[in-house]
Amino acid sequence: MPFRFPPDFVWGVATSAFQIEGAAHADGKGPSIWDRFCAVPGAIADGSNGDVACDHVKHWPADLDIAASLGVQAYRFSVSWPRVQPSGSGAWSNPGLDFYERLVDGMLERGLRPYLTLNHWDLPDALQSQGGWANRDTVHRFVEYALGVNARLGDRIAAITTHNEPWVIATLGHESGHFAPGVQSRATAMQVAHHLLLSHGLALQALRFEGCAADLGIVLNLAPVQPATEAEADRTAARLEDGKLLRWYMDPLFLGQYPQDMLAHLGADCPRVEAGDMDGIAISMDFLGINYYSRNVVSANGPWDVHSSGRPVTAMGWEVYPEGLTELLLRIHRDYAVPPMYVTENGSAFVDVLAAGRVHDPERCRYIEQHIAAVGNAMQQGVPMAGYMVWSLLDNFEWASGYAKRFGIVHVDYATQQRTLKDSALWYRDFLRQQHLQLAQGGPGFHTLEQEAVVAGV
Ligand code: FCB
Repeated sequence: MPFRFPPDFVWGVATSAFQIEGAAHADGKGPSIWDRFCAVPGAIADGSNGDVACDHVKHWPADLDIAASLGVQAYRFSVSWPRVQPSGSGAWSNPGLDFYERLVDGMLERGLRPYLTLNHWDLPDALQSQGGWANRDTVHRFVEYALGVNARLGDRIAAITTHNEPWVIATLGHESGHFAPGVQSRATAMQVAHHLLLSHGLALQALRFEGCAADLGIVLNLAPVQPATEAEADRTAARLEDGKLLRWYMDPLFLGQYPQDMLAHLGADCPRVEAGDMDGIAISMDFLGINYYSRNVVSANGPWDVHSSGRPVTAMGWEVYPEGLTELLLRIHRDYAVPPMYVTENGSAFVDVLAAGRVHDPERCRYIEQHIAAVGNAMQQGVPMAGYMVWSLLDNFEWASGYAKRFGIVHVDYATQQRTLKDSALWYRDFLRQQHLQLAQGGPGFHTLEQEAVVAGV
């Protein structure tokens, strides 16, 4: 059945500071752990860094113009902590705060609601030299940072996210070491995860105490975790992976405790938890953001072959699995008392070719369409969803993959900083126009090409 998204459903596009801003050493900005990590030989696939990126610090007015031209209501962005507070404690940088003030005012002038993320991974390097997220003191530094940003911008922000994807910071940053700061220790990773959760809860309380009017929440990267086969070993491995990816974050946030099976599994690598911490974490939120890209299939005998399902695979090697998003949203809604949820990131990297001023990216158009349909499907089954945001507005620095992987619906020529709307941007713009028309004229609602085919009896 075609689905009609409600009038207050928020459509958006997402970016993050380190991935687009550039100006890495300008105006007194301090180095972040990603600036340092990029300098480690071999850490970034193409040897690149965030020094220039999309030079968004210079091009932001044009970038916001593009976002507004698509017809989105929301622009999700992050504040670079070391740009506003270079060493992560003490002195604030006025040029840094001024930049975000202009950016936020620029959004409001264009009718874009600012969705601000405080921590999209670029911790001030000065804090890392004192242990970073593994040091409990960083929790308190983060609360101060949150309050400082709120004091300057809070009156104009629609929503504040404390952390983006704490699993990535903990596990990729501190267990596998594939991401900054490149630590390899499971015990450290679990302590980092605990400190991220605690700092989220304490920052939320402090922001509320200050009377912050923005909606407050967190963004998690979640996926359905499925065993590769019905074999007991695969099922056990999948259960543990689900514990580490999803329940390790959802249980403390919404049930006030870590999952028992994970505590038993981690043994000596369990984090140190002080009295009162769990109550501090389980603070009620105004929204939950979910970033969804693919499902996670787990085999006890090494990596699962992503091509074995016969489904399309993106340039990241991620399987296209839109029904996993419906499944995930239904499960979250069933297992936890969650506030309204957003899909805060969803998108795909494919090999794009810019020719004659166009980028034809039918796979990306299809990917976005199918995932929007998957959200509609969950809503039809009773899941309260508040919005959907495409990752990403612009091609950008894709972390350890460098600039080789392009997630944008807008192409960026890094040599000239020229922006070109890909077909997917035009598709999204037309889709949003249709949405407005549907609401105005009471049309039949949104349906995918497949649904149209069914209706037409093809
Ligand atoms: C998410 C990140 C985002 C982007 C996408 C592809 O994990 O939050 O910054 O890199 O993946």
